Amino acid sequence: MILPSMLLYNVNEIHYKSTNKNNKNFISQKMALPNGLQSSDELLEAQAHVWNHIFNFINSMSLKCALQLNIPDIIHKHNKPITLSELINALPINKAKSNHIYRLMRILTHSKFFVKVNISENDEEGYWLTPSSRLLVKNGPSSMAPFALAMLDPVLVDPWHHFGEWFQDDNPMAFVTAHGRTFWEKAIEEPRVNQFFNEAMSSDAQFVANLLIKDCKHVFDGLKSMIDVGGGTGGMAKVMVEACPGLKFVVLELEHVIDGLKGDEMLTFVVGDMFVSIPRADAVFLKWILHDWSDEDCVKILKKCKEAIPSKDNGGKVIIMEIIVDDKKKLDHEKVETQLFFDMEMMTMVGGKERTEKEWAKLFFDAGFTSYKITLLGLRALIEVFP
Ligand SMILES: C[S@@+](CC[C@H](N)C(=O)[O-])C[C@H]1O[C@@H](n2cnc3c(N)ncnc32)[C@H](O)[C@@H]1O
Repeated sequence: MILPSMLLYNVNEIHYKSTNKNNKNFISQKMALPNGLQSSDELLEAQAHVWNHIFNFINSMSLKCALQLNIPDIIHKHNKPITLSELINALPINKAKSNHIYRLMRILTHSKFFVKVNISENDEEGYWLTPSSRLLVKNGPSSMAPFALAMLDPVLVDPWHHFGEWFQDDNPMAFVTAHGRTFWEKAIEEPRVNQFFNEAMSSDAQFVANLLIKDCKHVFDGLKSMIDVGGGTGGMAKVMVEACPGLKFVVLELEHVIDGLKGDEMLTFVVGDMFVSIPRADAVFLKWILHDWSDEDCVKILKKCKEAIPSKDNGGKVIIMEIIVDDKKKLDHEKVETQLFFDMEMMTMVGGKERTEKEWAKLFFDAGFTSYKITLLGLRALIEVFP
């Protein structure tokens, strides 16, 4: 019998013997015993894969650290590649820890958040922003920094430590196992959570709204009024109202989210519950709403949306912004993995899910809609759903 502790030692011997044809049977039988691997290379490859996944969270936490230390903003403000010593000087850190900064920058350069470039003839190097870290500069309205900091806040990371426990208990989602209440309840009770979540949503909404105006403006042509159901603090609505003259926006939200927000003639904030009633409009907008909910709840919400809009002939539609999980192998490995991360996050945080096109179509038809049209936008899609 091969004990696990003997495996690494023995596998070299087996690999060596495997070049001998006469020993093939003996070798494959012996190799089948531990875990079916064929060679030491494969065994070590498997070990590297396990290690990579054990420490995968270090990518997330290093990124969080860079945001806490304002590194993208510091480089952006520097306006040219920054040397290590210039970066250290600008960082709000205990200078006794300066000698660790190159290691933080090394992993973040490896994970493509920064690049090292030559900045002088004597091979001096500086760190510069990449397209990904440009999105994390905080001073832009559609910066992704608030979203990153919110998703990596301990309140949202804690439930992952309870994920296995949750599979064995009676709670609806691991967030409840970790915090004793739902995410929505916690947001009502804790202003800090309400605030970081609303800021995260608003920054993403502004990011998406700018893309929609650039690439999908035709979807909004002819509409005179629109309800942004669960539209947060109005990040999407504010950009759309500016870009689409004559289009009136109503944000329907829970009280604690829009408390104190003032609208104007073109943008109003209405406290309400989408499960109860949605004000009438030419179109309903649902961004990152349905992925928070079970199939049954989604059908309820979609039926309320259908009641709020005119017929298809009169221009009525629901416009949905969500992930469509790629089950047709059209996206690359990293993009599919990211979609699956979102699916797992929804399961853990709010008991929702990301859906394939087939799953979406079933919800639309179950709620009484007759057709839909998909426009892909990166990892997400804009889905127009017609009554
Ligand atoms: C994931 S956030 C999306 C926010 C915004 N649509 C966006 O994508 O930026 C879901 C939103 O739904 C709101 N919400 C939750 N339950 C609701 C309800 N019953 N009626 C109206 N809004 C609700 C939450 O307050 C939250 O702002």
